[in-house]
Amino acid sequence: SVDLRSLYKDFGCFSYDPGFTITASCKSKITYIDGDRGILLYRGYPIEQLAENCDFIEVAYLLLQGELPNATQFRDFNLEISDRAIIHEALRKFFDGFHYDAHPMAMLVGVVGSLAAFYHKEMNVKDPQHRWICATRMIGKISTIAAASYRHSIGRPFVYPRMDLNYCENFLNMMFSRSSQTYIDQDHYIDPFLVKALNLLFILHADHEQNASTSTVRLAGSTGANPYACVAAGIAALWGPAHGGANEAVLNMLAQIGCAENVPKYIAKAKDVNDPFRLMGFGHRVYKNFDPRATIIRKTCHELLSKFQKNDPLFELALVLEEHALKDEYFIERKLYPNVDFYSGIIYKALNIPVDMFTVMFAIARTAGWVSHWLEMQEEQPGMPIGRPRQLYLGPQRRDFIPINQR
Ligand code: ACO
Repeated sequence: SVDLRSLYKDFGCFSYDPGFTITASCKSKITYIDGDRGILLYRGYPIEQLAENCDFIEVAYLLLQGELPNATQFRDFNLEISDRAIIHEALRKFFDGFHYDAHPMAMLVGVVGSLAAFYHKEMNVKDPQHRWICATRMIGKISTIAAASYRHSIGRPFVYPRMDLNYCENFLNMMFSRSSQTYIDQDHYIDPFLVKALNLLFILHADHEQNASTSTVRLAGSTGANPYACVAAGIAALWGPAHGGANEAVLNMLAQIGCAENVPKYIAKAKDVNDPFRLMGFGHRVYKNFDPRATIIRKTCHELLSKFQKNDPLFELALVLEEHALKDEYFIERKLYPNVDFYSGIIYKALNIPVDMFTVMFAIARTAGWVSHWLEMQEEQPGMPIGRPRQLYLGPQRRDFIPINQR
């Protein structure tokens, strides 16, 4: 056994908080969450008001700049983002190196990381103009790279971004143009309801203070690493099923449950302490009463289902599961409500976005938050210390080396 007291006497006192449940890792002015009261504010504005009234790019501007844009600022920012959406032809060829069935998140991590190889010469993190270019470039290019990942996975040619479409329309066009599943008819008409639903999802996912992926971007950023590499690190952190991978996990779980008759069996599995199965899309580390994003998105989800996908058994199953879990004592006692990802996966499915692209969709939206946090830490905390958590050492005490022939 290890005498921890003697091991730690040199370190003084420090806290052990592996999940950062009571430890703030930074100061920030971007997003406020009150988990008990279900409040989420971006730069002071309630998420409900932004979701009702804003374009995603307007919200991205708010996150980056701290204020909503006026009409001229909005027009100029939109133009800047559209202008930066095009990717280098050489970068496009990176996709050829990926196996046809590579997960789009794997491609996203790799291709976004490789932006660091394209834009290193003009990247001086101490220059505010360079930092701004980097932030807007990342927001502009992420949707193009995301759509290209999908096109590669289905073996279809890459579709170039268009300046005449807004951010969400442009993304849908790059994804589905000339595809049998397209929302775009021969006159390039895109159903405004679908664009609105996507815009809403992007706004709801744009930032969420110090979640695992944003903290990863900040931790990597604290070392002075290239910002595109920092965002690639954030994408990797987002991928896990306990974080951004949850929306994909929800659809996989619904497929596993199969039909409404199986719901009680899977609810019982989720409650069984000896069974690792959890209801994906339920529970949240911070929201312990309700997730305000889930309240907003639930309404859109129900509207979308009644408009487009009336008889899909998977959606009916989702509604049955939601109903059962909301009435179950186990979930009520533990304050496990459907989170934003329970509904976002269902909406993405209704938008014909393939399941393995769901976390990529989250990454597109969250890029606005990641780069806002990266900008904030560069702008407001010059000379900040490198992020360097401590640990509780539980290994052997000091001992002497034994030559290999005596072990
Ligand atoms: N299904 C069944 N039981 C659950 C679930 C769930 N989805 N989530 C939590 N519990 C139970 C735990 O078993 C635990 O029970 P116990 O008190 O009897 O031991 C209790 O509720 C508390 O759970 P913790 O894991 O301590 O809660 P924590 O706050 O650490 O976890 C998390 C939050 C990771 C989101 C968890 O609820 C979970 O795994 N949910 C499913 C995955 C998911 O939907 N993730 C998306 C999060 S939202 C986002 O990233 C945008």
